[in-house]
Order: sequence, then structure tokens, then C-alpha cells
Amino acid sequence: MKIFITGTTSGIGRQLALDYHESGHAVIAVGRSATALKALANQGMHTLELDLLDREATLRNLTDRNDFDMTFLMDVQAASQAIRKGIEKKQAEIHFPKKLTWGMKAVALLPRSLWAALARRMVTS
Ligand SMILES: NC(=O)c1ccc[n+]([C@@H]2O[C@H](COP(=O)([O-])OP(=O)(O)OC[C@H]3O[C@@H](n4cnc5c(N)ncnc54)[C@H](OP(=O)(O)O)[C@@H]3O)[C@@H](O)[C@H]2O)c1
Repeated sequence: MKIFITGTTSGIGRQLALDYHESGHAVIAVGRSATALKALANQGMHTLELDLLDREATLRNLTDRNDFDMTFLMDVQAASQAIRKGIEKKQAEIHFPKKLTWGMKAVALLPRSLWAALARRMVTS
């Protein structure tokens, strides 16, 4: 299986990456520390030095390289507008884009075994 893991430069993420790599999976290890990533690369893992809080770098290195459409991706202006509108309306919960969030809410109403089966179908090897 090809497994993408964030936070692999220390702690739980690092151990998870080591364990999956050792059991023969193709790990893509993400983090910010170049030194720690180099140690993982030396063991044969693919590494990606990336600050996930850096929106532009994340779009460039990940989102833009997807081989599928990000149907529900919103630009930051539209997201900001949706949040401000929700606050102005004193909404207890602000969620968007509605086509995605209403769908997720509908799925969450299903029995756990059903939505767990749907989630499992989204995992590909
Ligand atoms: N350890 C526990 O007992 C425990 C229990 C329950 C929940 N958790 C949660 O599980 C998560 C991992 O815990 P941990 O103990 O393994 O923590 P950790 O050792 O501090 O590891 C955090 C990892 O996240 C990476 N990271 C942080 N900010 C990042 C960013 N902006 N972009 C990319 N990578 C970033 C760090 O790598 P770089 O600094 O190289 O970017 C590091 O590899 C944390 O959210 C923690 O709250 C931990």
C-alpha cells in the first residue's frame, strides 16, 4: 500500500512511518525538519519537506498534483465570505460548501457499520 503520513519527523508519526516502511509499504513521509527527513530518506522512504500551514506550498506540492478533481475546493475569498456570513447570522455552526457538508451530515446519520463501510471503500492501495 502507498501511505502518506504527516508528522513523521518525530513521535507517533515517525514510529508509524518506520513500522509501515518495515512491513513493506511505500511510505511518503511529511514534516518540516530536513535533518529528520533525511534520516527517513536514508532508510528508503520517500520524503516531502513541507510546512502544512503554508497554504501556497501545500497547494503546489500536494493539491495541484492530485490525479482527481477537488470538486469541493473553495478559494479563500469564498471561504472567508461564508464564515463572515455565518457569524453575522449568529449561526451556532458554520459549514461549507453546503453540497459537501450536507452530504456528510446525511452520511453521519447512517448506522456506524454503513458509514464505516463507505469510508473503507475510499481507501485504495
Ligand atoms: N504522544 C501522545 O501521547 C499523544 C496522545 C494523543 C494525541 N497526540 C497527538 O498526536 C499528534 C502527534 O503527537 P506526537 O507526540 O507524535 O507529537 P510530536 O512528536 O510533537 O510530532 C509532531 C509532528 O508534527 C509535525 N508538524 C508539526 N507542525 C507541522 C506543520 N505545520 N507542517 C508539517 N508538519 C508539522 C512535526 O514535524 P516538524 O516539526 O518537522 O514539522 C512532528 O513530526 C499530536 O497532534 C498530538 O497532540 C499525542
